[in-house]
Amino acid sequence: MSVLLECDGLIKHFGGLVAVNDVSCHARDGEIFGLIGPNGAGKTTLFRLISGVYSPTTGYILFKGRSVAGLKPHATCHRGIVSTHQIVRPFREMSVFDNVRVGAEFGRRGDRRRDVNAWTREILEFTGLAPQADRLAKNLTLAGRKRLEIARSLAADPELLLLDEVIAGLNPTEIAQTMNLILQIRARGITIIMVEHVMKAIMNLSDRIMVLNYGRKIAEGQPKEIAQNPAVIEAYLGQPFAN
Ligand SMILES: Nc1ncnc2c1ncn2[C@@H]1O[C@H](COP(=O)(O)OP(=O)(O)O)[C@@H](O)[C@H]1O
Ligand SMILES: [Mg+2]
Repeated sequence: MSVLLECDGLIKHFGGLVAVNDVSCHARDGEIFGLIGPNGAGKTTLFRLISGVYSPTTGYILFKGRSVAGLKPHATCHRGIVSTHQIVRPFREMSVFDNVRVGAEFGRRGDRRRDVNAWTREILEFTGLAPQADRLAKNLTLAGRKRLEIARSLAADPELLLLDEVIAGLNPTEIAQTMNLILQIRARGITIIMVEHVMKAIMNLSDRIMVLNYGRKIAEGQPKEIAQNPAVIEAYLGQPFAN
């Protein structure tokens, strides 16, 4: 598998705070790369550096060998990088269909030959939201809104999808459904980097996992290695998980 995304020496300062501190990592084509760590560790900030919400203070971000550091979100989107938002904020007064259509309109390929409505319907079918297409976004359950957030992102036709806590807060049935959806997304050929606190999900889905703590990478490896890593247990997982 070739490297799709490569971050090298990424640093992000917010005033005196170093939210991301010298992080280097990569995601390979077709993999699910998990990102975990305590609250405030810098996970969302790293996503925002990759998707262009923030510019790195220093460091490199290469996507398919080209620099994307400092590009705005619409530009990274057109290159093929799309992120969900941790706090899901659909257009509340718009229908599910129209929310997804917005993602399609602003999608990477901006392919004017593609029928936007047909593509929107395809994404709604794929994500299981088709039966709710006409509902207003504000009337969805939390699970529905999280699914809509995924659908909106997929509608933009990403090659690299950043999923920020799309499982947290769901019940066991919904967790299983979303895990299944994530595997189906990968089966479409989309590379995924996911931040998640639900360990069962991250451990089962990820090919590799990186752990951040206070902005720094403290471990990286296969789920099994991460679950047994003393520094990770100390900083994040806690003793019961190791046993
Ligand atoms: N826009 C911002 N301005 C100032 N500080 C921020 C900003 N965004 C995040 N931070 C701080 O950076 C640190 C990392 O935050 P974040 O990336 O959201 O962590 P995580 O997603 O791992 O919980 C936290 O201390 C947070 O308060
Ligand atoms: Mg976060």
